[in-house]
Amino acid sequence: MNDNWIRVCADNEVVEGEIRSFNIEGNNVLIARYGDKIYALEDTCSHDGAELSDGDLVDGQIQCSRHGGRFDLKTGEATQMPAIMGIESYGVEIKQGDIYIALKK
Ligand code: FES
Repeated sequence: MNDNWIRVCADNEVVEGEIRSFNIEGNNVLIARYGDKIYALEDTCSHDGAELSDGDLVDGQIQCSRHGGRFDLKTGEATQMPAIMGIESYGVEIKQGDIYIALKK
C-alpha cells in the first residue's frame, strides 16, 4: 500500500505539549508535539469515540479525556484500559518548515 503525503500545517503552529485536531481528506487526525517530536494519530478513541485531541499527553501517550484510556504516541497501540483496540498512527515528516503526514491510499 502506498502512502499519500499531505501537508497539515506549518511546523511552528503546534507548540510543545499541544494537541491539535485537523480534518485531512475526510480523516480526523490529531497532531501532537511531545518532547522534540511531532506525532500524528487518528483523533477518535477506540473505546467510545471521544476526540482524543481533547485529552492530555502523559509519559509518551495520549490519554482520553472521557474515560482515561491511553494510546502510545508512536504506534497508536492501546496502553491503558478501558481502551483495548489501537488507533491508526501516521508517518510524519517535516519538510521546509511544514508538517506532512502519510495517509494510506
Ligand atoms: S472514550 Fe476514550 S476511554 Fe472511553
